Amino acid sequence: MSQEVLLKVKDLRTEFFTSKTSSVTAVANISFDIYKGEILGLVGESGCGKSVTSLSIMQLLKDTPGKITNGEVVLDGVDLITASDAQIRDIRGGKMSMIFQEPMSSLNPSMRIDKQMIEGICLHTDMSKEQAREHAAEMLKKVGIPDPQRVLKNYPHQLSGGMSQRVMIAMAMSNDPQLLIADEPTTALDVTIQAQILDLMKKIQKEEQSSILLITHDLGVVAEMCSRVIVMYAGKIVEEAPVGILFNNPTHPYTQGLIASVPKLGSGVKVLPSIPGSVPDLSSMPEGCRFAPRCKYATEKCRTQEPPLAVVGENQKCRCWLKIEE
Ligand SMILES: Nc1ncnc2c1ncn2[C@@H]1O[C@H](COP(=O)(O)OP(=O)(O)O)[C@@H](O)[C@H]1O
Ligand SMILES: [Mg+2]
Repeated sequence: MSQEVLLKVKDLRTEFFTSKTSSVTAVANISFDIYKGEILGLVGESGCGKSVTSLSIMQLLKDTPGKITNGEVVLDGVDLITASDAQIRDIRGGKMSMIFQEPMSSLNPSMRIDKQMIEGICLHTDMSKEQAREHAAEMLKKVGIPDPQRVLKNYPHQLSGGMSQRVMIAMAMSNDPQLLIADEPTTALDVTIQAQILDLMKKIQKEEQSSILLITHDLGVVAEMCSRVIVMYAGKIVEEAPVGILFNNPTHPYTQGLIASVPKLGSGVKVLPSIPGSVPDLSSMPEGCRFAPRCKYATEKCRTQEPPLAVVGENQKCRCWLKIEE
C-alpha cells in the first residue's frame, strides 16, 4: 500500500428528499481517503449509510430520491460530483466499478452473459468483439468458473447464486478498475463460497495493485481482508483506524460494542452481547452524540453537544467526548 491517495471523499452529504422542501440526511458530511493499493473496510450496523455512501461515490443516485448536497468525491484528480454524464459513463465500469450484494441488480436478466460482458469490455477498451469475448472467458476463469464457454452462453437465471456472484465480480474486474467498491459482496452466499470469493478479490487486488472499499457488517471479513477501517454510525464516521488497532484498542463505545459482539474462537460463549437499542431514525436524530441514547457512558454533555471526529492516536480518529477529554 502506498500513501498516494486514489479517492478523496470530503464533507460528503447525501439527502433523500421526501418533498421539495423536506429531506432526511443519510450521509452527514463524511470525509475519508482511500490509498492506492489498499483495502479499506467500511463497517456499521444496517441503516448506517454504508450503501448510500457507495452509491454516492459511484454517482448512482439518479434513480432514487437521493441527492448529494455537499462535498467532493475526487478520483485520481477528477471530482465525480461535478463531472459530466459522459465522463461518469467513461469512468464507471472502467476506472471504477462496483460489486453489489444482490447480483441481479447489476446483471441484465434478458441478456446472455457473453453479450453483457462483451458490451462492458468494448465500451471501455479498444478490443474487437472477438478479443473481448476471449477476455471475458479469461475473467470467468480467473473467478474460478471451470467452464467459461458454457457460462458465457447462459442467461443469468440459469446460474446459481454463487455463479452469478462470480460473474458479477468478473464483470466488475474485467477492465482493471483502480477502485472497486464491494458492498456486502458475499453476504448472500454460503460460507465456503464466501471465503473463495474473498480470496479471489484479494488475489486480483494484489496483482493489479488496485484499491477496494469493502463494505460489510462482518468484522471477521474485515480482519481477514482490510488494512484500515472506518466505522459509520447514523450517517457519520465515528472511528477510523488501522485494522490491528481497531481490534486491539477500539476507542469509540460503538466500535467496542461491535467488536464485543463478534464470537471468539474457543471462548465457549453461547450468548453474545449485542448493542442495546437501535440506529436512530433519520428524521429524528438525537441532538448531541448520535450514539448517546445507546451508550452506557453517556453524560449530559454527550446528550446535548455533538463531539467532533478527533485525532486520538497515530492514524486513529474517534468521535467521542470521553476520549477527547481524556
Ligand atoms: N432510496 C431511498 N429512499 C429513501 N431513503 C433511503 C433510500 N435508500 C436509503 N435510504 C435511507 O438511508 C439510510 C441509510 O441506508 P443504507 O445506506 O442503505 O444503509 P446500510 O448502512 O445498511 O447500507 C437508511 O435510513 C435508509 O432508510
Ligand atoms: Mg447496505
